[in-house]
Amino acid sequence: MCGIVGYVGGQSAQDVVVAGLKRLEYRGYDSAGVAVLADGGLAGAKKAGKLLNLEKELKDRPLPAGNTGVGHTRWATHGGPTDVNAHPHLDNAGRVAVVHNGIIENFAALREELAGRGHELASETDTEVVAHLLAEAYSSAGDLAEAMRQVCRRLHGAFTLVAVHADAPDTVVGARRNSPLVVGVGDGEMFLASDVAAFIAHTRDAIELGQDQVVELSRDGATVTGFDGLPADVHAYHVDWDASAAEKGGYASFMLKEIADQPKAVADTLLGRIDASGTLHLDEVRIPPSELREVDKVVIIACGTAFHAGMIAKYAIEHVTRLPCETELASEFRYRDPILDRHTLVVAISQSGETMDTLMAVRHAREQGAKVLAICNTNGSTIPRESDAVLYTHAGPEVAVASTKAFLTQLVACYLVALYLGQIRGTKWGDEIRTVVRQLSEVPRQVEQVLGTMEPVRALARSLADRDTVLFVGRHVGYPVALEGALKLKELAYMHAEGFAAGELKHGPIALIDEGLPVVVIVPSPRGRSVLHDKIVSNIQEIRARGARTVVIAEEGDEAVVPYADHLIRIPATPTLLQPLVATVPLQVFACELATARGNEVDQPRNLAKSVTVE
Ligand code: G6P
Repeated sequence: MCGIVGYVGGQSAQDVVVAGLKRLEYRGYDSAGVAVLADGGLAGAKKAGKLLNLEKELKDRPLPAGNTGVGHTRWATHGGPTDVNAHPHLDNAGRVAVVHNGIIENFAALREELAGRGHELASETDTEVVAHLLAEAYSSAGDLAEAMRQVCRRLHGAFTLVAVHADAPDTVVGARRNSPLVVGVGDGEMFLASDVAAFIAHTRDAIELGQDQVVELSRDGATVTGFDGLPADVHAYHVDWDASAAEKGGYASFMLKEIADQPKAVADTLLGRIDASGTLHLDEVRIPPSELREVDKVVIIACGTAFHAGMIAKYAIEHVTRLPCETELASEFRYRDPILDRHTLVVAISQSGETMDTLMAVRHAREQGAKVLAICNTNGSTIPRESDAVLYTHAGPEVAVASTKAFLTQLVACYLVALYLGQIRGTKWGDEIRTVVRQLSEVPRQVEQVLGTMEPVRALARSLADRDTVLFVGRHVGYPVALEGALKLKELAYMHAEGFAAGELKHGPIALIDEGLPVVVIVPSPRGRSVLHDKIVSNIQEIRARGARTVVIAEEGDEAVVPYADHLIRIPATPTLLQPLVATVPLQVFACELATARGNEVDQPRNLAKSVTVE
């Protein structure tokens, strides 16, 4: 939610900052802006709309050359997406430029206070107060980092800030509370950004900033202190992917690339989890086995697509461990006074590791004494840092707002957690665990196979581009898959799409069905629990009898569904619990193609952001 960049070094700050913003545009794209220190003053430009508008403006009216600068790409919270509300924000003298990610909760009181001292605020944003407060603090402190610390101590809420001051050349100062900020360490140049993707083209060496820390960058290094001014411990790390991983690699969109990346993402997430003796190891899980043996309940918290992964995880965890497991929307979790104690294991699933709803739920769970295990795709992000243990998915950077490869790897991680708990609690034998791991290791090939047969799905999607509604139904683990299929279509195609548990159709939703309404049905395997299969075949007949146009996703060899399928999408046979790993893929392709046929931009759907760092 909002991407911020800062740079000091020998290159053109405008070029480095704008290139960084391009990589962060997934975080928000309502407006963008840049400011550089040049000719003893500040020069800047900001524009409503996508980054492209800012780039056009800079092409028509280039900024004077400068080597220190900041930039921002916005997802609006306070104030609409206008030129004036775009960041950076300046003080009245135009000497300080500030960019911000988050919400300053006490901004109204601060604004009033500043107005009382004669400050004139131009925008409707909460951020602008920081520029004015910083200018005041700098005039007495004479040091930008100290001024930033003083200001931060007065702010409430979530505020990750980056600022420059015309009187402090070759200096960029950042502050972090509740939203991400990483330092990039180059040779004679330093970077600050919401995500390493912004500077990965220049350096893979990074420093994580902790909560309530201020960093001062010069060309040669970074000094980190707490908001209290005391020196802070920092954690330096090396990023294990490079710029090419964040490029489209010949695909028309990041989403298409990320869908195609899934076999590798799944394989990478499974890599090195099982040793020669067949024992499962999750190296990043740091909760001692003795404590995991005492767990008497598992609670999964997540948002959006990650929540659907969590719904599927419940089936796997309960089946493998026989522990009761609940899955809850992170945004609802702490408000219902959940029953948690030190025997509760909370599993927080988040691709970004920054989703504020999930982070707040994690904090609440830990305050109540529960142990928290994070499943996360972003190294060093806030949720794993604040959890007791983490299991990283290895999906690589996911740029498209709608999650695809991260979802599949979250599922793999959830199955691994279930098996690991089963192993140490003794509810599964070693050979049973090895069988499931072997079945999981088949999944990359199976996903590859699905991807190779998607042309009819794309043609079907194009033929439905003018429809208003698509329904999705499934049973058991197919139910969350139906919800995910519907979510993808809402996010990307802006269509009315709903997912239902097939058994619930008769209790209401069946009234929606009329002539020609497309209904996508996810059919469980006829092997295994055949009762599930038989029930859903009856459901297909019921909806078809009422005029629905059925799109049936069924495994190879399932002939029972053929008479009732207007369109049949085949997926490889998998064990029941693992079917979501292959059944979701056609739904991603379907939504992506349908949205494209409607002329929508799939990587950056309207009104959304990839990483939502407000509650
Ligand atoms: C946003 C994104 C969704 C994502 C959700 C959770 O709403 O648009 O695609 O599923 O956040 O994100 P997380 O990073 O916590 O997995």
